[in-house]
Amino acid sequence: MAEPTVLCRVDELADGQARGFDLAGDGQDQFFLVRHQGQLHAWRNACPHVAGAPMAWRRHAYLSADGQQVMCHAHGARFEPDTGLCVQGPCQGQHLQRVPLWVDEAGQVRLTPAPAR
Ligand code: FES
Repeated sequence: MAEPTVLCRVDELADGQARGFDLAGDGQDQFFLVRHQGQLHAWRNACPHVAGAPMAWRRHAYLSADGQQVMCHAHGARFEPDTGLCVQGPCQGQHLQRVPLWVDEAGQVRLTPAPAR
């Protein structure tokens, strides 16, 4: 079995920050991390409004200006950072797809298995 991918250290993201990851190296993030109320969450970079649509308007720009909601910049959908529920916009009531994470004993955030595209 492959070694789980290390994404970053658990303390690298502050509350209200997000970071995208392009593990495939094709120039587009497959998923992003967000820290909200002290907890890390990972979501696929795929808006439920339009199947597979990328959400950020520039690299790592996945959040609203106040850092309190995930935002799709295509048509303005807003999501809760901890549940992925769309609370405003054209896909209200739908969810982002969670990417499973875990933090190892050394404080490294790991991903396993790699998310499908
Ligand atoms: S593609 Fe995300 S709101 Fe339309």
